[in-house]
Amino acid sequence: MEIKTIINEKPKPKPDQNELGFGIYFTDHMFEMDYDEGEGWHDARIIPYGPLSLEPSALVFHYGQETFEGLKAYKNLEGHTVLFRPKENFIRMNNSNQRICMPTLDVDFVISALKQLVATDESWIPTADGTSLYVRPFMIATEPSIGVKVSKSYKFVIILSPVGAYYKDGLKPTKILVEENYIRAANGGTGEAKYGGNYAGSLLPYQKAVAKGFSQVMFLDGANKKFVEEVGTSNAFFIVDGVLYTSPLSGTILPGVTRDSVIKIARDEGWEVVEKALAIDDIILYAKQGKLDEVFASGTAAVVSPIGQLAYRDEVIDIGDTIGPKTQLLYDKLTGIQLGKIEDKFNWVERL
Ligand code: COI
Repeated sequence: MEIKTIINEKPKPKPDQNELGFGIYFTDHMFEMDYDEGEGWHDARIIPYGPLSLEPSALVFHYGQETFEGLKAYKNLEGHTVLFRPKENFIRMNNSNQRICMPTLDVDFVISALKQLVATDESWIPTADGTSLYVRPFMIATEPSIGVKVSKSYKFVIILSPVGAYYKDGLKPTKILVEENYIRAANGGTGEAKYGGNYAGSLLPYQKAVAKGFSQVMFLDGANKKFVEEVGTSNAFFIVDGVLYTSPLSGTILPGVTRDSVIKIARDEGWEVVEKALAIDDIILYAKQGKLDEVFASGTAAVVSPIGQLAYRDEVIDIGDTIGPKTQLLYDKLTGIQLGKIEDKFNWVERL
């Protein structure tokens, strides 16, 4: 499919690279294409960033048929623009789409569209330490209808946002509340899809945790409220007695691209990695025995973010107020590969 381009004649001033925050600024262009049953995807275009025009009856507004992705573009040390593992994100998006009854995408086509979009807004890629261009593809149901049904039409859009660290304190360890009432996902639900509803459901526990001074919530499994699954918007890792643990991909957690990258880097370092859900009671016990070495979250937005404290009921586990050595190594290796500072032996980085 051909991609039409309309250049924005009124480019915006660029924000200060040291004050980007996360997801506040958007570049001058976006990619858009439409889907209609019987016709498939059509009208691929790169156009000036701006409002979408939708009927108030569009199905997305009523029953939430929506999926999204998150990946990043960087300017590497040699000045080349690179994407990190884009294929994994669009394969995951297709899996999410199937769960929410939405059409799939031609992965190679959307990667080439993304490359064209990023090339159009290349001057927006920030280069200050810890910054990148966050890529947000999303898909919404557009059929005008308020019957509860699968939409016959969709819009797929990619927007770009220059970002700094997701957590305002960067690599300073965060305080996390282990949630004992609300759950994020249940067996057979939508937990492994990158679907807006999962995130909407996590807002109330998040808001309550923030009001108590925490940065995020750690969710336990829905069936027993016993095993640790995910941290708000990221996957969770624990280093116990030198062994790296993370929840297995059993349908309720997001199959993170950063999660997978962390596991591969750790195994390549010769560390033992176990994909097993740890019980919160055992984590407390390990902490009391002095065996809980490090805890961190991983995600495209969060990268590798150290966790310094976990609070559960009346227990407070202090892990440390500086980033641990293994978390630091994983952060350095991952960002080193992304920025071309160290060899990309896994072939994860793709040039435009
Ligand atoms: C990401 O890490 O890209 C995410 O999707 C988290 C996001 C909801 C900010």
